[in-house]
Amino acid sequence: MSHVKVADGIYSVGVLNPSLRVFDIVMSTAYGTTYNSYLVKGSEKTAIIEASHIDYFEYYLENIKEVADIMDIDYVIMNHNEPDHSGSIGKLISLNPNIEVIATPAGAMYLKNILNHDSPKIRVVKEGDSIDLGGGKVLKFISAPFLHWPDTMFTWLEQDGVLFSCDFLGAHYCEPQMKDTLCDKIDKYEDAFLGYYNAIFGPFKPYVLDGLEKIKDLDIKYACTSHGPILSKGCKLEENIEKYKLWSTKIKNEKASIPIFYCSAYGNTQKLAKAIAEGIKKVLPSADIETFDIIENDMGLLGEKLNNSDAFLIGSPTLNKDAVPPVWQLLAHIDAINIHKKKAAIFGSCGWSGESFKNLNGRLSNLKVDVFESPFKITLVASEKDLLDAFEYGKSFGEYFLA
Ligand SMILES: Cc1cc2nc3c(=O)[nH]c(=O)nc-3n(C[C@H](O)[C@H](O)[C@H](O)COP(=O)(O)O)c2cc1C
Ligand SMILES: [Fe+2]
Ligand SMILES: [Fe+2]
Repeated sequence: MSHVKVADGIYSVGVLNPSLRVFDIVMSTAYGTTYNSYLVKGSEKTAIIEASHIDYFEYYLENIKEVADIMDIDYVIMNHNEPDHSGSIGKLISLNPNIEVIATPAGAMYLKNILNHDSPKIRVVKEGDSIDLGGGKVLKFISAPFLHWPDTMFTWLEQDGVLFSCDFLGAHYCEPQMKDTLCDKIDKYEDAFLGYYNAIFGPFKPYVLDGLEKIKDLDIKYACTSHGPILSKGCKLEENIEKYKLWSTKIKNEKASIPIFYCSAYGNTQKLAKAIAEGIKKVLPSADIETFDIIENDMGLLGEKLNNSDAFLIGSPTLNKDAVPPVWQLLAHIDAINIHKKKAAIFGSCGWSGESFKNLNGRLSNLKVDVFESPFKITLVASEKDLLDAFEYGKSFGEYFLA
């Protein structure tokens, strides 16, 4: 483990974690990860950009010490305060209490709760503010909210054309060379880059486009991300920026897409799904209305269908006073920002108490989904009349969609 030189006076001093297989509880990391941190030396001052994960502080400190004395560090710049990057700040400050921590206004608030400490020096910076390290090394701050935390910013070092881009353009991928130009298994890196985008930035697509707009006129030579290899101009940088643009631009479906997702233990909620589908088709004959049994399909694929839909329906029986777990699992894949105002409806069969309806309605309403009327409910086994009513409910939903 050691530092890597990026350019004169700029060093990568982060930590490798090749064996990590799950990140933040839900992300699989088949290629490990790196917790990147950069040290920039000006003629007067020294700054660290992003700290590292607290569990690897010992290795992190060794890397820093290879290029600077800890007592010579003047600033730690927090591009965002997720603990994989902010975890070590407390320890850095305890070794050198003169360190000033730089963060956005939101970042400064979070820092207080991360450090749980009164004494650290925190400087709040806003869009366009800068810090001069001397010798032409001026760090300029570009606010980039929701990429992917509310407090995110980029740090731009014009002299060297280096953008410290936080998690933006990052990947959970680990190779010790830390540079795209030296990357050994490029297909695996590309897989990791896509996986990282989907998990971290997929829910923030409009903000991704805002972030790209903010950096479009910069002559970037290197994007120093917070995970995975540094991206270089002429290697992966331009290509990856184009991918972000493509993946974040909303594609209009040729036909209106209204998927119907359901779970059903005894087939009743399933019958409702089919009848509702027929009702919607009656009103929207050219729309794409498909029913999906949640447990028989890949969850990632269903999540994509839901997020790319024009409207959607969710059906669940009530089991143990709730909707069933696979339904909740699907809802966990929702892009919370892009879902605002999307039209949806809830349906299902229940036995006696029917809590699934209220619980699903609560969740969708919290996500600011436009939930249709009251859910379509039946008790136990679907009768002929129930199925006719479900068909009519589908027609009403189709009309609601058109309204
Ligand atoms: C294990 C189990 C637990 C259940 N718990 C509830 C419950 O808490 N409240 C309720 O209204 N119905 C409950 N039910 C009844 C189901 O919601 C009901 O049988 C429903 O018709 C099943 O729909 P399906 O055919 O689509 O699976 C339960 C059923 C099972 C098998
Ligand atoms: Fe993050
Ligand atoms: Fe991160």
